[in-house]
Amino acid sequence: MSIQWFPGHMTRARRQIQDKLKLIDLAVELLDARIPLSSRNPMIDDILLNKPRLIVLGKSDLADPRETEAWIERFKYEGHECIAVDASTGTRVGEIPDLARKLMQEKIDRQIAKGINPRAVRALIVGIPNVGKSTLINRLAGRNIAITGDRPGVTKGQQWIKVGKEMELLDTPGILWPKFEDPIVGYRLAMTGAIKEQILDIEDIAFYATRELINRYWDTLVERYGIEEERPTDTEEAENIVRIMEAIGRKRGCLISGGRVDLEKTSGIILRELRAGKLGRLTLESASTY
Ligand code: G4P
Repeated sequence: MSIQWFPGHMTRARRQIQDKLKLIDLAVELLDARIPLSSRNPMIDDILLNKPRLIVLGKSDLADPRETEAWIERFKYEGHECIAVDASTGTRVGEIPDLARKLMQEKIDRQIAKGINPRAVRALIVGIPNVGKSTLINRLAGRNIAITGDRPGVTKGQQWIKVGKEMELLDTPGILWPKFEDPIVGYRLAMTGAIKEQILDIEDIAFYATRELINRYWDTLVERYGIEEERPTDTEEAENIVRIMEAIGRKRGCLISGGRVDLEKTSGIILRELRAGKLGRLTLESASTY
């Protein structure tokens, strides 16, 4: 990952976000719609305290639409406003200011009742690295903003970006660390491209990706690679996963001496195609099992 997270970094990141909370009305928590759990900071509730929160499921163009709907329901059930967007094309990004205003409606009504003219709703976008924060800020702003890394003394010289008349955004997103406790979280982040491959072994990442595909999207896998293998019944058994990876490699001509399958090359193909959406729109974590 671009940032190596140590306890000191985590404390600083938390403090920086908490400094900014004083300036804003609500936080926009950006998650990856393909992995809403793994892309979620484990301490988000503690960090955002009682700030109103809008959950945005980003990269929804790459996620399974039915699963995304289920996640939206899930988050709403928990009391959060939630919307799925594609920041790369801007799909539904334009609805965010209205939702933000809706979240603040009671406060706005109170101000109006007191004769105060309510100002634009002020928000901060928070999320783990590579989840799409800068892309979303640029979309909301309607132009390319020079998004800077976090600076000390955040309250000084803070820039507000206008999003229409009713919303303002801090120009610096809040960068949070992902979960570390569960190793599968790291592999899911790597599968979706959120963390760099060099940190984890490419064959390991592809192994877990293949396992997820067998369990959740077997028909898609068969269709994409034309494999003729039986669907493994036990995906806890490593050799069953490797057998499918080898079948994919053979179909793609990834062979080395002795007719053996080049698993490294095969892994590269699986991951590239998965990340580029060539296997269709996939979600690796279901709201129903959460
Ligand atoms: P960050 O600020 O949270 O670190 O993330 P950033 O906006 O830099 O986005 C990380 C990657 O995710 C970028 O791709 C970006 O284009 C892509 N991305 C962001 N939002 C969406 C979305 O809604 N849908 C899709 N499909 N992709 C999204 P990249 O490969 O790193 O760069 P590039 O190919 O765009 O140059």
